Amino acid sequence: MKLTLVLALLAQANGIYGQAVDANGITLYEKIEEMERQILQPFTLNSLVSPCSNNQNGPPEEQEQTAAQWVRILFHDVITKNVEGPGLGGLDASIGFETDRPENIGQFANITLIQFALFSSVFLSMADLIALGVSDSLATCDQPLARRIPLRVGRIDATRAGPAGVPGPADSLAFAQTAFTRAGFTNSEMIQAVACGHSLGGVHQTNFPDIVPESQKTPENTEGRSTFDSTPNVFDNTGVNEYISGVGLKGGPLVVGANETTRSDLRIFKSDNNVTINAMNTPGSFEQTCLNIFEKMSNTVPSGVTLSAPIVPRPWIMRESHLDLTPLGIVTFQGTISAHGATEPPATASYFYGTEGGGNTGPKTSQTGAAIPIFRNTQIGFGTIKDYAFFDTFNSPTIQTINVQGQYSAPINLNIFLLPSQTFTLPVRDGPGGAVLTNRYLVRAAVKGSLVTAGSTVSATLWYPTTQQGSVVPKIATLITTLTLEKTVGPYKIFKAVIIQPGAVVIFGGAHFFQIKLGTTQTSAKISSIVFNTTCTAPDPSGC
Ligand code: HEM
Ligand SMILES: *[C@@H]1O[C@H](CO)[C@@H](O)[C@H](O)[C@H]1NC(C)=O
Ligand SMILES: *[C@@H]1O[C@H](CO)[C@@H](O)[C@H](O)[C@H]1NC(C)=O
Ligand SMILES: *[C@@H]1O[C@H](CO)[C@@H](O)[C@H](O)[C@H]1NC(C)=O
Ligand SMILES: *[C@@H]1O[C@H](CO)[C@@H](O)[C@H](O)[C@H]1NC(C)=O
Repeated sequence: MKLTLVLALLAQANGIYGQAVDANGITLYEKIEEMERQILQPFTLNSLVSPCSNNQNGPPEEQEQTAAQWVRILFHDVITKNVEGPGLGGLDASIGFETDRPENIGQFANITLIQFALFSSVFLSMADLIALGVSDSLATCDQPLARRIPLRVGRIDATRAGPAGVPGPADSLAFAQTAFTRAGFTNSEMIQAVACGHSLGGVHQTNFPDIVPESQKTPENTEGRSTFDSTPNVFDNTGVNEYISGVGLKGGPLVVGANETTRSDLRIFKSDNNVTINAMNTPGSFEQTCLNIFEKMSNTVPSGVTLSAPIVPRPWIMRESHLDLTPLGIVTFQGTISAHGATEPPATASYFYGTEGGGNTGPKTSQTGAAIPIFRNTQIGFGTIKDYAFFDTFNSPTIQTINVQGQYSAPINLNIFLLPSQTFTLPVRDGPGGAVLTNRYLVRAAVKGSLVTAGSTVSATLWYPTTQQGSVVPKIATLITTLTLEKTVGPYKIFKAVIIQPGAVVIFGGAHFFQIKLGTTQTSAKISSIVFNTTCTAPDPSGC
């Protein structure tokens, strides 16, 4: 009774249980924490858009701009929302199923989604990654302030195409107005969204030969990009100013292009006699207006989706942690604590383990933290990020939490846990050294022997990315496997199973997570296959 109460209180304090879960059983709290980890990870998604001019998928002379593509995909995914109909559409990655539509011409959608897929998981939907991508792009392109859009998580990926209707440059003003209104944006917001988006990148002759003349192509500009403003690599009011003042590029190809039909930016900007666009013609008003409108677009989601509060990465988080057992049956707990701050975080991290009944096992000190090399630190804007490794052996069977610097806490369940050192990743290959046909795992888990009865079922849930017909966006699938008893080690019973991932492997599909359950009463932490043991030399997994 007492233990139950303590667990319930802990669960509340940590926000882990008792929260609404998505179809995969994941809470908003878990998604927030995974996004915090992603945001504070160096050399990750944000490095693809650093600097703002970077072309991640080709040579510079192609003048494709990854940051601009990431911003554009937001518009193309969101704008087909229908606020009045059944509430479908919005930021849901349905764009993945819609790339062959003429309104989404170009390779930007597939290129972008493939770039994001590697970072997706059961925690981070592709729609959340689109929002992160816009936030990263604006931070990297917004000079010198590097401001970020407040980022929420919880978006759910669509499993099929949504409605059509992205306005194109040859569409009338009325057509664009109808689309924006249907998606929940006023005429003034439409003007803002277009002016903000068209601060980056440009129109490519290869995609829009009716708008940009062939002569735009040069050896330094092989796809004939015609930029919207004189500073396509800076998120700023230059384009607005050039439009209003008639200087420089005068608003670019969609304002002064030779063909009047495709002057959609001109039609939109002057639709309220230039009132909205005039109000954006200072660096400060432009930046604030645009952050607001991009935030609104990012949070335009299908009805029924609950978004988290804006994420402010906490000063201390757990980057990764896992329990394990040594061959002698001693419980270990190890991982990496991460801190960040404008002032350099301390040399070491202090933490303790909370025990049943409210006590603890005494103060602990991590290994010396290392400031991690940050890709264009000032643009990421989180000061110094430091990672601290720790490794402990547990003597107390009543440990229930880890508490870091008095600021962060997470539950630890010693009743049930996966054993990473004795869990093996053994891909099935197309012949020796060949391509990976599917992922195979030998999973081992420890369950407190006193909890196991004759009728107990111990199972492993695997969340893995699968291919979807018609979209490059991976879909998260679930496989549940029953484990069998292998042996007893100290107070634990060890269960194991060989798990083979069904279907084709999505090579750049993102992370695989496992969770062990005892019936419906005990659940382990969710563990990424990244920490599994990869060195089993036995020819068959059962020999590992
Ligand atoms: C009626 C509304 C709009 C029309 C007709 C329109 C049209 C276009 C066209 C024709 C291109 C050239 C694409 C290429 O050749 O690669 C483009 C690029 C772009 N659009 Fe829009 N757009 C509209 C609204 C928006 C909005 C609201 C955003 C804000 C997210 C946006 C963001 C961008 C960006 C960032 C690019 C540059 C892409 C690159 O350089 O690869 N657009 N737009
Ligand atoms: C202008 O653009 C429209 C739409 O792309 C096209 O149908 C038309 O032929 C173009 N006009 C000229 C003169 O190129
Ligand atoms: C709006 O600004 C454009 C570009 O500077 C100009 O051509 C147009 O005449 C203006 N329209 C009005 C109504 O002010
Ligand atoms: C991986 O498993 C082997 C036994 O197959 C063991 O010797 C080794 O210590 C394990 N590696 C890790 C990192 O736990
Ligand atoms: C994008 O990828 C999907 C899935 O492979 C494919 O069906 C579609 O044709 C691709 N789109 C483009 C424009 O190449």
